[in-house]
Amino acid sequence: MNAITETTAHDRILADRARYVSAGVSTPKLVVSRADGARVTDVDGRTFLDFAGGIGCQNTGHRFAPVVEAIRAQADDYLHQCFMVGVYEPYVEVCRRLAELSPCAGEQQKSLLVNSGAEANENAVKIARSATGRPAVVVFDNAFHGRTLLTMTMTAKVKPYRAGFGPFAPEVYRAPVPNLYRGVTTDDAIAGLKQLFKAEVDPASVACVVLEPVQGEGGFLPMPTDYLQRLTEMCREHGILFVDDEVQSGVGRTGKMWAIEHHDGVAPDLLVSGKSIGGGLPLAAVTGPASIMDAVPAGGLGGTFGGNPLSCVAAAAVLDAVADPEFLAQATALGGTIRLRLEQVAARHDAIGEVRGLGPMLAFELSEQTPDQAAAIVAAAFERNLLLLACGMYGNVIRLLAPLTIGDDDLEEGLAVLEESLDTAL
Ligand SMILES: Cc1ncc(COP(=O)(O)O)c(C=O)c1O
Repeated sequence: MNAITETTAHDRILADRARYVSAGVSTPKLVVSRADGARVTDVDGRTFLDFAGGIGCQNTGHRFAPVVEAIRAQADDYLHQCFMVGVYEPYVEVCRRLAELSPCAGEQQKSLLVNSGAEANENAVKIARSATGRPAVVVFDNAFHGRTLLTMTMTAKVKPYRAGFGPFAPEVYRAPVPNLYRGVTTDDAIAGLKQLFKAEVDPASVACVVLEPVQGEGGFLPMPTDYLQRLTEMCREHGILFVDDEVQSGVGRTGKMWAIEHHDGVAPDLLVSGKSIGGGLPLAAVTGPASIMDAVPAGGLGGTFGGNPLSCVAAAAVLDAVADPEFLAQATALGGTIRLRLEQVAARHDAIGEVRGLGPMLAFELSEQTPDQAAAIVAAAFERNLLLLACGMYGNVIRLLAPLTIGDDDLEEGLAVLEESLDTAL
């Protein structure tokens, strides 16, 4: 056999990827040919267990049957229309479900559908500015809200998200969040926000605060209930809207439809959802009461592909499945199993500083503030056919985003491989 015929599909596609795709997109050495449930198969027939879920987009698993069926049926009727050219029912149906499931305060919940989490956050800020007549936005340490100019500005991490991409959007201010593992309490975080309002920005000019109730890219940091209660109290006092970014923590990921529902007495003004809502298709949304959502004059919101019919029928199927109390109970039980296992593993490894999360949205942070050990764990897992993702400001957190529908055998196999990978890498 000569060298050319020995080249695998994997190597050929990666060579073409290096030749034709921007180096600015960071990719692993995985070339996918098929995915089902919690498993991904590469072009050479190697099968991986997926604890990454396309970064939190597969809460209902790859090729969730009701999603695939709905997409097939919709493809037979019509594809793109543009909601601003022709109204179609699937868009309205997703908004109806989001209204029924909304955790937001206020009457008559309405939604806007867009393509991505970043676009949804951009629109949440536009809506908040329009509703309040104020310009400023407050965001937080460890935040990730997207990669567009405004959402990159709202995002906390310099490398790789901001470095070299300035100048940034104006009127974005940052406050601390509680992080007990690193010694920041609720009192500290509230004091930081008060200081921001004294030193940097008049709270009377702030349209909204935007916060992830469990910070995702920033390291799977759950916000404590007392902090959220005090933050929303301050928002009310100053007429500031509370935007709840649930792009990663929503759609069942924490064992409730929205992570904010874990916190008594905390109701957002606007909800931003995305990722898993589309069951693998691009969809994101902004949801809130008519008093806020209707503040923008007609024509001020929209976009060519926002709420594409295929994405909408997929989202309706996902929301119906996840809203089932049995689905959420199973997700919660899954979280209990994974947490117990992670705590057992952490007890054997001094390098693991903290196991944390909310329900099945779980991670562990390595005490060393460098990405090296986490990268070694991800690489060891990959060698053993398990897909893992690191996150955190120092890249030293391993997060688990397996489908919430994962079967017992796949879960057990994945956790065993995770343990083995830790034993090898640490
Ligand atoms: C909390 C949060 N908000 C917003 C985004 C941006 O979403 P997208 O990549 O769909 O623009 C992400 C993506 O990881 C996220 O985790």
